[in-house]
Amino acid sequence: MIFYFSGTGNSRWAARRLAELTGDTAIDLARLDKAPDCSGETRIGLVFPVYAWGLPEPVETFARTLPRTGAFTFAVATCGSEAGHALKKLDRLFPLRSSYSLVMPNNYILGADLDDEATARAKIDAAEKELAVIAREVAAAQPVCRVREGSLAALKSSVVHYGFNRFARSTKAFYATNACTGCGRCAKDCPAGTIRLENGRPVWGDKCYQCLRCLHSCPVQAIQYGKGTETKGRYTIEQYRPL
Ligand SMILES: Cc1cc2nc3c(=O)[nH]c(=O)nc-3n(C[C@H](O)[C@H](O)[C@H](O)COP(=O)(O)O)c2cc1C
Ligand code: SF4
Ligand code: SF4
Repeated sequence: MIFYFSGTGNSRWAARRLAELTGDTAIDLARLDKAPDCSGETRIGLVFPVYAWGLPEPVETFARTLPRTGAFTFAVATCGSEAGHALKKLDRLFPLRSSYSLVMPNNYILGADLDDEATARAKIDAAEKELAVIAREVAAAQPVCRVREGSLAALKSSVVHYGFNRFARSTKAFYATNACTGCGRCAKDCPAGTIRLENGRPVWGDKCYQCLRCLHSCPVQAIQYGKGTETKGRYTIEQYRPL
């Protein structure tokens, strides 16, 4: 069983590719309403994006609920460039036999830029090759640690990740421009269930994982986060790998 969390589709795509290649099933952990039954599973995998060199909150919460069975356990952390100690943190919550980082297009546009199209394409092509290798290793239950932690990983995964959770996950800067058509997609798809439509416009509650799905997936690019995103492009995996 492969559980995934994904904002803009990279981790969902990676989880589904791995499931296809290993004859397994990929399940969106944000859609589960109770702890999964993993009895009888020979493999348990987690695929998720790195957030500020650490774990997304739903992944951390979910990992704590996973049973410790005799199954082969592995995790793949998708990231724009480096994973820091995200996988080490996960290993403390849910002991892993194998840990991987998988570089994929960056979706963090609050203060950083998207990859250009050629870079994004090259990253996805390389990730596809790497997933084939990971699938063979996982199928053989071969313990592997292939993680690009980057520089100052301990500092970034502690201090910066703490700062991200404490100060950066506010929804106050989200708004929809007049381009909004009131289609409701942002409200339907938010994994935190925090967006509701009022008078045909999205309104954000407090809870937010900062997955950026709403920002990137609005069909008319109406959603902004402060002023900084107005000039930025948008990214979802479907631009490169249709579902
Ligand atoms: C809030 C946030 C923080 C991020 N932090 C990092 C990071 O620390 N290191 C990194 O390489 N990429 C970082 N990224 C980029 C994502 O990890 C990367 O694009 C990932 O593949 C997105 O996966 P998804 O499409 O499944 O959501 C961050 C993205 C977001 C939204
Ligand atoms: S997805 Fe975009 S167009 Fe649709 S309701 Fe949300 S902001 Fe408006
Ligand atoms: S409000 Fe947007 S960024 Fe926050 S959890 Fe929902 S979809 Fe993700």
